[in-house]
Amino acid sequence: MSVHFKGNAAKITVPELLQRKSQAANFPNKKITCLTAYDYPTARIVDEAGVDVVLVGDSMAMVALGYDSTLPLTLDEALHHTKAARRGVQRALLIADMPFGTYHSDVNEALRNAVRFVKESGAEAVKVEGGERRLELIARLTEAEIPVMGHVGLTPQSVNAMGGYRVQGKTLSGAEQLLRDARAVEAAGAFSIVLEGIPRELAAEITRTLRIPTIGIGAGPDCDGQILVLHDMIGLTFHEPPKFARRYTNVGKRIGQAVREYCADVQSGNFPSDAESYHRAHAAKEELELPVNTDGDW
Ligand code: KIV
Repeated sequence: MSVHFKGNAAKITVPELLQRKSQAANFPNKKITCLTAYDYPTARIVDEAGVDVVLVGDSMAMVALGYDSTLPLTLDEALHHTKAARRGVQRALLIADMPFGTYHSDVNEALRNAVRFVKESGAEAVKVEGGERRLELIARLTEAEIPVMGHVGLTPQSVNAMGGYRVQGKTLSGAEQLLRDARAVEAAGAFSIVLEGIPRELAAEITRTLRIPTIGIGAGPDCDGQILVLHDMIGLTFHEPPKFARRYTNVGKRIGQAVREYCADVQSGNFPSDAESYHRAHAAKEELELPVNTDGDW
């Protein structure tokens, strides 16, 4: 697919995000804003509202596709949703999350899969979970000119290894390992890193240590940017959101209310009204038999 940015001078790029980090001391109010989106309308809405990064997160597995975890998401499903989000995004940087199993075995296969996200779905970068163990992979993708966002801490694809969704890095040894992981991701060539579900003090230390921007989710306010799952922040999920996922509105409740009103209007004959109906142009008796729509366009 082809991507046309229509000469938008404000287009967010990888070098621009790196520059924001290097100039963070001069611009403390230029934090990086990121949200997830998995389809055309939500991607377009968050892009037009001015978010810097749109992540087609593998959280789509649970939030949009109804799976129990992110693990079942397939490459084809993720590509399909990334293509849809691509059509909605003009300004933000579009990042595709690589699903579990698409980068865990052979590095050559991982590279082929990452290339598909760029070539077929128009992603400008990919995200992979994991720290020191992803060194070779991140270096390989970066060498192939595919910008990589890392992701350490509470990594949902490791749910079975972690024994659940638990805050990471709370012990001294856990914190030291996370610091090593974050350093490894940077050394391998990633342009940014998500810090998920870790103590704010540790996130602040990692943020001070790294030259690449840190993007926090459940990692406190001292990261270089923040990301949330859009569906959590707008009330379009069915579970109690985690405590860091501030709810800005409740779209789920509004949709339910609108649907109840619509059903009641249909039942009572209040919908559609005459103004919402089409009319014949001529009421002459002989024309009643003409099977012609004279009421113009939709
Ligand atoms: O899949 C996702 O939505 C994510 C973000 C929460 C960082 O990985």
